[in-house]
Amino acid sequence: MALMITRSRILLKCTGKLRLFSSNAIPKSININEVDYETNEHWTNVTPSIVSLTDRSLHVHESHPVSILREMIEQKLNSTDKAFNIYNNFKPVVSVYDNFDSLGFPEDHPGRSKSDTYYVNDKHLLRTHTSAHEMKCFKDIKSDQSSSNSGRSGFLISADVYRRDEIDRTHYPAFHQMEGARIWKREKALNSNKEPQHIVQLRKDIKKLGDQLEKEETKLIVEDDKSLEGNPKQDYMTELEVELCQQHLKRSVELVVSEVFNQKITSMKNSNVADIPKELKVRWIKAYFPWTAPSWEIEVWWQGDWLEVCGCGLVREQVLLNSGFEKDSTIGWAFGLGLDRIAMLLFEVPDIRLFWTMDERFHTQFIKGKINPFVPYSKYPGTLRDVSFWLANDDNAIEVHENDVMEIVRNEGGDLVESVKLIDEFTSSKSGKKSLCYRINYQSMDRNVTNEEINEIQEKVRDELVNKYNVELR
Ligand code: PHE
Repeated sequence: MALMITRSRILLKCTGKLRLFSSNAIPKSININEVDYETNEHWTNVTPSIVSLTDRSLHVHESHPVSILREMIEQKLNSTDKAFNIYNNFKPVVSVYDNFDSLGFPEDHPGRSKSDTYYVNDKHLLRTHTSAHEMKCFKDIKSDQSSSNSGRSGFLISADVYRRDEIDRTHYPAFHQMEGARIWKREKALNSNKEPQHIVQLRKDIKKLGDQLEKEETKLIVEDDKSLEGNPKQDYMTELEVELCQQHLKRSVELVVSEVFNQKITSMKNSNVADIPKELKVRWIKAYFPWTAPSWEIEVWWQGDWLEVCGCGLVREQVLLNSGFEKDSTIGWAFGLGLDRIAMLLFEVPDIRLFWTMDERFHTQFIKGKINPFVPYSKYPGTLRDVSFWLANDDNAIEVHENDVMEIVRNEGGDLVESVKLIDEFTSSKSGKKSLCYRINYQSMDRNVTNEEINEIQEKVRDELVNKYNVELR
C-alpha cells in the first residue's frame, strides 16, 4: 500500500507524461462478441468490466424478469393483429451512424459525448438506445412491401443498451429497452366522398386498441392536454393523419402499461397484499427526440412516484426516406420503452445489480410467464469508504467528468459497488482549487465482503484517480 501512495506522488509531479505511464494504457484492439475492433486513443473508453456484460443477453433468458416482461409486452401488442416483426438478437456494437447520424442527432448533441457514451473507437460504440436499429427494421418492412409479400407493418426490438452514468440502486451502465414502431402506407382517396384507405385502416386499428383497453379490470386514468404548442407536427402529414397516428401510438403504449400494471395488481391480489392500487394514473408529457415530431413521454403513477416509462413520437420522414421509402408514401410512429425499472417494480427487485448476478438463489425464483415478488435471500452489510481529492487547476489539468469517477470505481469494484455519492464539494479561497469528496458504499448482493478486499479496491480507486486525472488526494 505504501508503495502505491509513493507511486501516486511521483505521478503527480510528471503531469505531462502522466498518461503514458498509466496502467490503463488501452490495448491495440478489443474483442466484443467475437469481433476484433481496433481501438483509438482519443475515443476508446469501454472498459473490461463493461465488455464483460455484452454477451449476457439477459432479455432472452426465459426465466429472467426482464425477459418475462419482454414476452408479456410482445404477446399483448401482437394479440390483435400480429402487426409486429420481433427482433431480439441484435448485437450491442453499432456504428456511430446508426446510433446517432441516421436519426438526425446534431453534431453537438450531449448524447454523443464521451462522458455519456461508451465508444469502442471513433466509428463504433455500444448502442445507447434500441433506436439504433430502427433503420434496419424499417428497411425490412420496405423490402417485404416491394416483394409484394404482404409482410407486417411494425416491429419490436429488445436489446441491452449502454450508458455511462452515476451508480446507485436504479442505475447500471447496461440496461434494456424495447423499441416499437408501426407504419401505414398512404393512399390517395379515389373520390372525395370517400376517406383514403389508410385513414379508414387507422380508425379501425385505433378502435381495436380502445376495445382492448376497455376490457382491463383496472382502467387507466389518462391525463393528456394534447396541445401541439412547442411540439410541432411535420409538414408532410395532414392534421387528421397526425391526430389518428398519435391516437394509435398513445393507445398502443397505454395498452402496454395497462397490461403490465394490471398483471401486477392481479399478482398482488393473489398474495393478499394490503394497499392495492384502485386506479392507474398515467400522464402524457411533451418531449423532444431528433427523429420524431411531435414527441411525447408517458409517466405512470406508482406507489407515490411518477415513473418515466417510455419516449415516443411520430417518425420523422427523413428516417423513412433513409430507410428506402419514397417521399410522401408513409406515416408512422415509434416508441422506446425502458424495461429494467418496470421489471424491478413488478418483481420487487430492490437493486438493479441483482439482474446481473450469477447467483442461482436469484434466478431460480422466477419462471417464464409469471410475475412473483423476489424474496431476498439475505441482506449483506455494506461498508463505506470516502475518497477526497483536489482537482488540479494548472495548465496540464485533465477535465474530470463525474461519470469518469464513476467509471473508475465501477472498473475496480465491479458489482461490489452499491452506490457512489458526492458528499462534499468546495473551492479553496487560498489556492482556487476545487475539492471533491465521494462516498462509496461497497456491498455485495451475494455474500459478505471483507475489509481487506475492500481496502485493496479502494486503494486501486485512489491510485487510478491520480493516475488518470492527476488529482491530489487529501
Ligand atoms: N430512444 C429514445 C430513448 O432512449 C426513446 C424513443 C424511441 C423516443 C423511439 C422516440 C422514439 O430515450
